[in-house]
Parts: sequence; C-alpha cells; structure tokens
Amino acid sequence: MKITKTLRAVPFLAASVLALNTPLAFANQPDSLYLYTYATIQNGGRNGLHAAWSAEGKEWSLLGSNFSFVKSDYGTWGGQKRMLTPFVWKGQDGLFHALWSVNEKDAVLAYATSKDLILWKPQSYITLKSVGTNCLAPEANWNAKSNQYEVTWLSVAADKDTVACMSSTSDFHAFTPAKVIPRTSRLESRRSIASLDATASGTITKVPRELVQNLQRYVLAKDDQYRSYAQNFQSDATLFANLTPLQATLTPSSPSSQKKISSLLMGIFFEDISRAADGGLYAELIQNRDFEYSSKDRREWNAQTAWALKGTGATFTVSEASPLHVNTPHYAVFTVETPGASLTNVGFEGIALKKGEKYNFSLFTQQLSGKGGKLKVRLVTPEGEVLATTTVSAPSATWNQQKAILTANADCANAKLELEPQTVGSLALDMISLFPQKTFKGRANGLRADLAQTIADLHPRFMRFPGGCVTHGNGIDNIYRWKNTIGPLQERKGDFNLWGYHQSVGLGFQEYFDFCEDLGCEPLPVLAAGVPCQNSSDGGAGQQGGIPMDQMEAYTQDLIDLIEWANGDAKTTKWGKIRAQGGHAKPYGLKMLGIGNEDLISDVFKERFEYIYMRIHAKYPDLKVVGTAGPFWEGSDYEEGWATATDLKVPLIDEHYYESPSWFLHNQDYYDQYDRSKSHVYLGEWASHGNNVYNALAEAVYLCNLERNADVVEMASYAPLLAKEGQSSWNPDLIYFTNNEVKPTANYFVQMLFGQHSGTKYQPAALSIQDANGKNVSDEAKLRLASSIVRDEKTGDVIVKLVNMLPVVAAVDIPVQVLQPGAKSVKSYLFTGAGDSRKSTLSEEKLSVEAAMKIELQPYSLRVLRIK
Ligand code: AHR
Repeated sequence: MKITKTLRAVPFLAASVLALNTPLAFANQPDSLYLYTYATIQNGGRNGLHAAWSAEGKEWSLLGSNFSFVKSDYGTWGGQKRMLTPFVWKGQDGLFHALWSVNEKDAVLAYATSKDLILWKPQSYITLKSVGTNCLAPEANWNAKSNQYEVTWLSVAADKDTVACMSSTSDFHAFTPAKVIPRTSRLESRRSIASLDATASGTITKVPRELVQNLQRYVLAKDDQYRSYAQNFQSDATLFANLTPLQATLTPSSPSSQKKISSLLMGIFFEDISRAADGGLYAELIQNRDFEYSSKDRREWNAQTAWALKGTGATFTVSEASPLHVNTPHYAVFTVETPGASLTNVGFEGIALKKGEKYNFSLFTQQLSGKGGKLKVRLVTPEGEVLATTTVSAPSATWNQQKAILTANADCANAKLELEPQTVGSLALDMISLFPQKTFKGRANGLRADLAQTIADLHPRFMRFPGGCVTHGNGIDNIYRWKNTIGPLQERKGDFNLWGYHQSVGLGFQEYFDFCEDLGCEPLPVLAAGVPCQNSSDGGAGQQGGIPMDQMEAYTQDLIDLIEWANGDAKTTKWGKIRAQGGHAKPYGLKMLGIGNEDLISDVFKERFEYIYMRIHAKYPDLKVVGTAGPFWEGSDYEEGWATATDLKVPLIDEHYYESPSWFLHNQDYYDQYDRSKSHVYLGEWASHGNNVYNALAEAVYLCNLERNADVVEMASYAPLLAKEGQSSWNPDLIYFTNNEVKPTANYFVQMLFGQHSGTKYQPAALSIQDANGKNVSDEAKLRLASSIVRDEKTGDVIVKLVNMLPVVAAVDIPVQVLQPGAKSVKSYLFTGAGDSRKSTLSEEKLSVEAAMKIELQPYSLRVLRIK
C-alpha cells in the first residue's frame, strides 16, 4: 500500500478549492471514499484519533500530518488520557460512534459519538466489570434481530488467559451483563496500516466524498488557525518589518449608539492553588498547626510535618486518644524528661517577621502527666538568635486555650517557632497558631495585609472562590464542602488539596465573605455540581463519577443552606443564626452562586446539575446561578454546556480559556455573535500563556473587546490570581509572592488599569488607521491597535483606553470635547515595556485637554485617559 505522508488534497479539492466559492463537485469522481480512522501508540497512545482517506483503499493520504479529531479524556493528566485501538463505525442512527480502550488495566471502554467526526459529544466511560480485568480492542456490531449493538472486547481473565467478551446495548448506557464468547465470533475488522504508522490500529469506513472534503477543509482551516495563534513577539520583526509610524483617528458613533454594560465586568477568581491560601493570603504563620497533615496531602507528609524536636531528653508523638475536637482528631504529645528540649515549627518555608511588629500567639494545651509548668515561646533565626520571646502559663488538666503576644526585635525572612516546657511532664498541644496583628483591615484570623491590599488595588467588583479544581475536587470525597469551613477553627475539617498540599480551611467561607465585604465586591461562591474533577485520580472506573443520585438531595440541601447562611435573618433562620454566631449578624447579600467548574458535560453531570439548578431556582428564583461550559472555548463540553444552560435558561454561564497571546488578538470578535437573549457570560478563567509585556498587552486588547461586549459578558476574571514563588502548580499567574514580598506581574497592571477605570456605558467608536504615507495598514497590524471608550455614570468621567501592540508609534486623534463636552482635565496612565520582558512601567500624568487631543501611543503600550 502506498502512502502520501503529507497533506494531499482530495483530487477534486485542489489547494485553491479552499476558497468557499470554488465548486466542489466534479462529474468524474467517486461519490464515496474510504476513510481510515485510527490511533497509534506513539506518545503512549495519547495522540488521539487520526484519519486518512483513500479512493480505492490502496493509496492512503493523511488528513493533517499529526491532526487529532478527538482525544481521550479518561483519567488524570500526565500518564493517562490514552486512546488505544479505536473502533469507529457509522451507526444505525447515522452518527459516527467510537469505542476505544483507555489502558491495559481498567475494565473500562470509552465511548463517544459525532455527526461529522469533527465535533464530538462528551465522552462516556463504560464499566464492564464482570469478565476479566481489562477491556482491549473493542468492536461493535449491529444485530438486526435483537435491535441492539453487540459490543465485544478482549480481556485478560483471572486465569491470565485472554478471553473474548460480549455485552449488548441499544444506547451505550445500559448494557447486558458481560459474557465470554468464542474468540472466533469476533468481527476482527480492525486494520493496521503499517505504512501510515507502524503502530496504527483502527477501522476503515466507506463514507460520502463530501465528508472527507469537509474534514480536509477543517484540518486546513485549523492549520491556518494554529499558525496564526503561534505568532508571538518575535514574529513582529517579520510581520511588521516595513511598517511606518501610524496615524489613527478615533471617531465615536452617535450618542444614541451607547449601550449599558455590566458594572461587574472586572473581578477576581481566588483559588487555593500554588499555596494561595495556607502559606499565602491566609496570614497564619504556623504550618500544620493542628497536626492534621497526612500522606493524602503529599506522599512524604505526615502529622509531624513542619514540626521537629530540638534537644534531647524529650519525645514528640502524635495522638488521637482524646482530641480537642473530632474534626481535628490529631494532636501532639510532647513529653519532657530533661528540661531544655523544645518543639519547633518551620512555618511555611520559614516565618517572616518584621522588626517592631506584634504577633498573636495561641495554642490549646492539656497537661497529660507530671506537675506542669510554664511554657516558653520563642521566635528564633535559623542560627538560633532569639527574635521574640514570651511565656504562657501552665496548662490545665483539660484542654484549654492560652494566648500571648510576641514582638519581633528584627526583620527575619525565615524564623522558626520554639516551644519549651519549663518542667518535666507530658503535654498535649494543638492548634498552635501565630498571626501578625497587622492583618488586612485588622481582622482576627485574617489575611496577609500586603497581599490583600495588592488584590484590593485591582478594584475587583466580584470575587469567585474557593477555586476551580479545588471546588469540584479530586474524587467525590474531595468535593469542597462549605460547611466544613465555618465555625471555630478547631471544629473545621481540612482536606487534601488536589494541587498537592493541605487545605486547613482556616480561610473558610466566613473569611471569604468577609474579604468580599472588605473589598466592596460581590461574593461569587462556586460549588461542585455533584461531580468531581474529570481529571480525578480516584474517580474510579467511569472516571468522573458523581455523587449517587440518592445522596443528591442532601448535597443540594447543603447548597441551599449556604444561601440561607449568607442571606438569612440572624434571629429567625437556622443558618442565619449560625452566621451570626460566627460574628456576622448582618446578611451578606449573596446574589450569585456558581454550580460546577469546567466539568465534563456528561450525562452524569447534566442529571446532577439540573437537579441542583431546579431546586435552587424553585426556592430562590432571584439568585443568579452560574452554570459551566467546560475548560475550552470550543469543543464538546463548550457545546453541551451551552446547550444545557440554554435549555434550563441558566442566567449566567462560566467559560474558561487559557490561550496564546495571538489567540486573543485573532479572536477579538469572539462575543460579537453571541445571542444576547440567551445565558449571559462569566469569563471565569482566562489568561494568555505568559507574563511578558506582550502577553499583558494582548490581554489589554482582549479587555477592550470584553468592554465592547460587556452587555453579554457580565463578568471576567484572570486566573490564577496568586502563586507563591517556588511553590507554583500553575504558570502564569497574576501575582507572585514570597513570605515577605509581593510581585505583581505585567498582566496585573493591565487588570488593575481596567479595574480602576471601568465604566457602566459603552461608547462605540471607529478607529481608522493609516501609515505614514496615508495608506491602509494590513489586517494583522489592525488587530494590534485597539481602543475602548466607556463612561462611568457615577463620576460622569469618560475613559478612553488605547492599546498599541506594534513596533511603531501611533499618533491617535481623540475628539475629547465630543466625548466629554466641556472637558476640564485629563488624567493619563501609561503602561509599557519591552514586549519580551516581564518588566513593565506604569506612570501617570495630568494632561491638558488640548494635549489629550492627539496622543502619541508608543510601541507596546497601553494608555488610559480619564476625562473629567
Ligand atoms: O486556574 C487554574 C485551574 O484551571 C483551575 O483550577 C481550573 O478550573 C482550571 O483548569
């Protein structure tokens, strides 16, 4: 068999045929072609479904050299997500069906359908338990007599022999019990076309010629897209080699064209990722204060992690015999036989102290044996130099809390805590805590002031919390339960964090709501739709799993209770009372609740989401529920998420995409076609791939377009917000930090400028651009000069934003007096930097109205003009 490895046009579809108006049909060509759909074991089988076509089944042409039409979504990122031995066929319903094996060990088959092989419905994972340990080389055959598909596969049985198995189904949801069949009764129609790839395995189907043409068109269009999305700062040297300085004019449309836009557009998304909460925003300085760390958090961790014994004549163990509270069952038992030994804590990679600042120390103790005496508390440098010291009184025979204040006599980035009992005996210790007195807004159990202030400077209008993947969790048991995160700290139930550490939930729902109040923004809690993360490692066979339907009522009630906790009367409602006991008698005024986080929009998801949505909507019809549309800007979850939201009339839908800067430049019209009468959009997670000035400016260009579409895009939040340097599970992030430094990125300053200068009305305007010779510029150049005009109705200010992502200056004429008749003053903010650098500068100046009429936009800059 002869193979053409490169993309070869279907004979009647020469390259030029890609122009849509070129005739596609030629009289002498066959009506149908052979299509080979297959996977290889290259890259461990993670490359997905490929296709090749042939006129006679002899000479094969690849559709895209390494193009994948669908990839397996089974299992966790990294080692899993494998598609082995796919079997694709055209079903009785006219759809293409695909079955494949997900690995060599699980008794699971993956299944998906598509009408055109391009857009695939969300995958489902079929658990076929009864015979053997795995499911290999699946096939399906229509049995006209029984009106069912017979699905067969090979499996290694208990006696280690490979057996053939069969199960029947009409819908790929319900299957008859698997039974062993003679191997000879299998179709064995899978082919290996070794000349395409030595490891290729798949099926050949006869399909209409148009289908192959469509696939080819699609592959070529995608190729073009990928090429343009790969443009970066370096491409500018070639793309704009001959570009001369530009002259642009901003012409506003008539005032009647102004439209109302969302006042909530600019917000934040806080997730406990990369140590954003414990060891980050949450100001607690003691790590593992409650001895609840375990190997579930991280393989090498245990209840003693971050603690150590210093000196001799003492032992340090962990007990659960008589806990302070059942929810935090572990505590330390410190037995001193020779005074002088101490128990130390290293904090989160050290404890940062500031000279002259006061720190609140507290702990619960209980004298287990011995007479008991005072306990010395010290903060010391790594070399043992004492930075602060105090003493707490002797413990009592039952659990009792002790408190003290420590004042640091010097700055230190990596101090340690030392606890030294002054007498021999055995002590129980728990909830050992150290907080700076200076927290954000001085709150007890509060937030790190410098980090919180940096966030506040973004002027967020809302905050989504407690996370994306953190909220739906790694497996059902890890789904975030808000009720575990309120009340006295020793009664809260921590859990492992799927980003590889521990959630103490000291920063719990009350603290999140308080933070929103301190920021003056709307809270947007997001909780799971009864399904864990689709990448869960313990979702079990069937992968996504889902809370069993007979437990969904209880789960949904928890969500409904949250609304009462946030908004209920402190005297007359159960959960309102609980909120008041926590210290907040006044209702928080919750208006929105997110259900689900970029989930796989499977049947498992849909059933649970609808259940929750209907219950909440019935009880709280005015509450805005935010649905979810998967992790990408296109594809099966996006389509199904939208279809579900449209069916149920969900008010808002949460979209996520992380893309190249160039994607953002080439998709400025993404929301232009959105139907305003359907669900509105919350762009809950978005960012370009990087923290360079070029990235930040691409985001600024996109934000100009989000403002333009802020009648349908109600809210947007960059993600992730925070990351501790050296502890980051995700890059890029908006704000990096260490224990004693905050490092906002270039992207941060763009978000800040848009947050501080947002509006409530949008003024459409045309930006006409010409080069120094008065000639029109290329479309690529046009994409890199953006503008947006908004009015802030509260202040009456008009705000003009201008972005120049080109290597040349652009002089922009701005009709200041038309935009703001009688304009008195103009404040200008300039963000700029070298495109390939993480370093940016931000400056501000006052301009006269005349000076603001012609703005010199320097290369790679964002200018914000606030016209009074
Ligand atoms: O923002 C980081 C992660 O990205 C979120 O947890 C998840 O929702 C998304 O995949």
